[in-house]
Amino acid sequence: MTAAWNRLKKECADFFRQIYVGEDRVLVFGEGDENARWMLVGEAPGEKEALAGRPFVGKAGEQLDAFLQAFELRREELYVTNAVKFRPTRVSAAGRTVNRTPTQEEIALWRPWLQREIELIKPKMVITMGNTALRAATGAQLMIGDVHGQTLPDYSPPIFPLYHPASVIYRKALHETYLNDLTELKAVIENVD
Ligand code: URA
Repeated sequence: MTAAWNRLKKECADFFRQIYVGEDRVLVFGEGDENARWMLVGEAPGEKEALAGRPFVGKAGEQLDAFLQAFELRREELYVTNAVKFRPTRVSAAGRTVNRTPTQEEIALWRPWLQREIELIKPKMVITMGNTALRAATGAQLMIGDVHGQTLPDYSPPIFPLYHPASVIYRKALHETYLNDLTELKAVIENVD
């Protein structure tokens, strides 16, 4: 990664050290090709990602890789990041620490850092996965069910919203929709020069 990327990462870590004073939160930054044409944005790291310090290495990552492979898209050609870069957790009724969806405040707090990451990588298209990434990238309260599988051309770079791969694991009915959206995405990116 270049000096500019390392600088951004350090500035971000310094900023959040002041916000999350005394909390030892692990920040999981984006990774991949810094000259990538396509940038994938997920929600936030889960337990596996926080342990590995890398995005999308757990179950959602496996699901994502399987889908990408089916469409001959390789992770190495992409830059993969998250809207929120720490693992948001809550304590379940059974007393376990589990993932939770980032709050609106968290999404807003992290949004400028995502914007800077997009400016640095300069992808031709930002592919969001799920509602959190969609809202972080657009700054609007859009619903993934209303806009998935199509290019939103009014953003720079344009945004292509997908469902989150984890939601496809839990909602089998989404599987076909997701595959159709990926077919559309493949057609769209083949026509971007
Ligand atoms: N889900 C995400 O949105 N991001 C990850 O890095 C892992 C799971």
